[in-house]
Amino acid sequence: MRILITAGPTREPIDPVRYLSNRSSGKMGYALAKQAIALGHEVTLISGPVSIEPPEGIEIIRVETADKMFDAVKAKINDGDMAIFCAAVSDYRVADIADEKIKKDSNTLTLTLIKNPDILGSARKDFGFSGTLVGFAAETENIDTNAREKLERKDCDFIVANDVSRSDIGFDRDANEVVIYSKDGSATRLELASKDEISRQIIERIS
Ligand code: CTP
Repeated sequence: MRILITAGPTREPIDPVRYLSNRSSGKMGYALAKQAIALGHEVTLISGPVSIEPPEGIEIIRVETADKMFDAVKAKINDGDMAIFCAAVSDYRVADIADEKIKKDSNTLTLTLIKNPDILGSARKDFGFSGTLVGFAAETENIDTNAREKLERKDCDFIVANDVSRSDIGFDRDANEVVIYSKDGSATRLELASKDEISRQIIERIS
């Protein structure tokens, strides 16, 4: 199979030296890419800025902003049979990026943010993708309800949900524990394990 994976955070510039971002390390997306290769699949990894090395043998496209990730996914998604959206895309970007470094000459500073495109939510209706579509849901409450709602709304075949309120798993951790929600209504819990092991199980089950 050819699998497209998005990974890592996005960075939304404020001025030439500052940006908005989030705590995603990219570890989960990179583990998925590594395990997909190990299981004999071809992988295109579209990655936001992270400090880990990509696995050997994949095609990697590096991007900074949600807009650039959107363009890269749009250009590549229909080359594949499956797409897994693991990136923690910034929901908003700065409306007016300053050309010069912003000086601290006032006591308050207000930034106007505008919504970024929903890349996963564009896969079916805008990109016309008809392969297996897998989203991630990072939740802090009502995981079951929120994950099932996201599955429907973004027209996914599967949503992999994790509880980001727990400090032992998820963002920037080496371990994870997830529940895979399927379009057919089933839910499968993958018990606490390394991100490599969780990734192997996700790829095996979904493919
Ligand atoms: N996602 C995306 N593009 C965005 C935002 C999210 O592709 N602009 C993808 C993520 O990669 C993930 C899924 O959508 O696979 C869920 O993202 P999340 O931010 O949790 O969902 P939202 O629909 O934005 O809902 P909310 O933030 O309100 O929980």
